[in-house]
Formats: sequence, structure tokens, C-alpha cells
Amino acid sequence: MKIGMLTGGGDCPGLNPAMRGFVLKALDYGFEVYGVREGWKGLVKGIVEDTPLTVGRVEEIISWGGTMLRSSRTNPYKDPAQLQAVKENIKAFGFDCIVALGGEDTLGVASKLWKDGIPTVGIPKTMDNDLDQTDYTFGFDSSVAVNVDAADRLRDTAKSHGRVIVLEVMGRHAGWVALHTGIAAGADYILLPEIPLDLDALTAHLKVAYARKGYGIVVASEGVELPHVDESEAKLDAFGHVILGDRAVGEFLAKEIEKRTGFETRSAVTGHIQRGGAPSAFDRVLASRLGLRAAQCVYEKDFGKMVAIHGTDVVPVDIDAAVGNLRTVPKELYESIIPLFNK
Ligand code: F6P
Repeated sequence: MKIGMLTGGGDCPGLNPAMRGFVLKALDYGFEVYGVREGWKGLVKGIVEDTPLTVGRVEEIISWGGTMLRSSRTNPYKDPAQLQAVKENIKAFGFDCIVALGGEDTLGVASKLWKDGIPTVGIPKTMDNDLDQTDYTFGFDSSVAVNVDAADRLRDTAKSHGRVIVLEVMGRHAGWVALHTGIAAGADYILLPEIPLDLDALTAHLKVAYARKGYGIVVASEGVELPHVDESEAKLDAFGHVILGDRAVGEFLAKEIEKRTGFETRSAVTGHIQRGGAPSAFDRVLASRLGLRAAQCVYEKDFGKMVAIHGTDVVPVDIDAAVGNLRTVPKELYESIIPLFNK
């Protein structure tokens, strides 16, 4: 069995451990795994490594962030010529199966290819943690840890200067990163894309918190809906997503808070810092287990599947079901944690 493996979309910690898990198990089955460079772009352009991945090549990558195969946000289904090239290259390189590590967009391509008759297996990654049909994606835990560290540091300045500080974190359409960062950092308010922004409630609460302790910390997702934003002219990526960093959610909120409360307010954005660095132990274990299980899917010719974590079990699910829907933060979950910050 000859397998092409690629990583697509935004990088995140855990991609390397997942590839390591996959390759180590695939070698036991006697498979050859070739690294396809730069996500789907590698199959459009035929950029494939000359030699199959070996134990030596993967054994030490358990602690590496990013992706050793590099990544891109290439969507071959946007352009029939690119799609044709992908299909021709899969044939030309003799791949019996493509293993794709990615989020909704990258796995969406894997799902379509499977419908077009090409065997694929998906491994879920995204620091946004918003893939359906899996309880967690790797990259999430590591990025929350970076954000919590940032919030702890910001608290020192907020406290020392009697300020409010807004920390803007990633998360696109889902507020998981903001929710977990806010809880773990003991924030005074948490703003998510799933919950309509209520500036009156936010500022009223900050006044109470400030009166008690003399500072405030707000954690906001980059995807929070802003009253002033017209997104018709916004820049889009290859999958048609608005580049959210450009909306400057943290900066907008900081200005509003200062105007409405009179408290000196600053904002900070962890940006791509939260996507880099060594994977957490949780992400290394999750990624390794997903990689191992994906190799088993290939061995069993159980294609059109994404490996997922359900509770403590790693199981295959239909890739199609996983990419059809984003897993966002339920309103009830958000409401249940409000007692942690509404004091
Ligand atoms: O990987 C997902 C994500 O981190 C989103 O939360 C964010 O909006 C986006 O990627 C930014 O990606 P980039 O700037 O690398 O294209």
C-alpha cells in the first residue's frame, strides 16, 4: 500500500505527533507513506517527497510544533484544472490512499475526493476545536495554554496600573478557545461569536468588578459580532473565510469600554503566537492515538472516515458527517459558566 499524507489549513501543535503515530503504525503494516508538501497544493503541483517516511524521520517530531510537511490553504475544488491535477497526480504517484490532516476545509476536500472514488482518511486538527463528530481536536489544548499564560501576564499589568485589558484570541466561528481561556484565566467577562455582544451588560459588569478589585480582564474571541462591521468588502482566504484578525475585535472593545466606563483600557492579541510552540502533553497523546487509529483505518480499507475522540475512545466516523456542520459552543454551556465571572 502506497499512501500520500498531507497537512492542510492553519498549522497547529499536534500535527507532527499525529503524523508520527500514523507512520509508526503504517510501517508495522508494511505500508509506504510519502509526505505530500504544503497541503492540497502538493497534489496540485506534484510536490511529493522522493523517499517514504522512516522511523528516523518521525521519531523525534513528537515535540515539534507546526508541520514538518508544511501547509497551505489550497482548495482544489475551487478550480476544475486544479482538481484535475490532483486526481492525475494521485494516479501518477501511485497512491492507493490519501491521508489528510486538517480542519473542516481540508477534510471537506478529502470528503469530496472520497465521493469521487479516491480512498481518503482524515485526521482532525484545529486549534479552534470546532470540528463536528469529535469531542476534541489537537491544537486546541496547546493554544488555550498559551492564551492562559498571556492572560495571567496581562493580569499583572492590569492590576499594577488599575486598567481593564481585553485579550483577543482566535476561534473563527466557534468560541471554544475564548471560553476555555476565560475560564482557566479567571476572566471577568468572556465574549464568544455564538453570544450576541451586549456592551451595556459588559460595561455594567466591569464597573462592579472594578469597584471591588480595581482592574478587569476580558477574554474575547476574534469572531465576536461587532455592531459596526460591514463584511461585504472584507478580505477572504482560499476557502472564502473572512480574515478575522483584520476586524480588530479587541481594539474595538477596548475603545468602547474606555469610552463607556472611563477606565483606562488596553487590548492585546495573541494572534499566531497561540498557534505555535511545542504541543501540550494532552495534544501529543490525542494526536498520537488519532494517527495510530487512522493507520488502522487504512489497513482495514475503512475509507471515507475521520478518526475521532469520543469520551476516552478513538473511533472512526464518516468524514462527510464531520465536515457538514461546525461544532459551536452551546448557549446553555456558556450560561452555565456565567457564575464564574458575573460577580
Ligand atoms: O486555524 C484556524 C485559525 O487559527 C482561525 O482561528 C483564524 O481565524 C485563522 O486560522 C487565521 O489563519 P491564517 O491567518 O493563518 O490564515
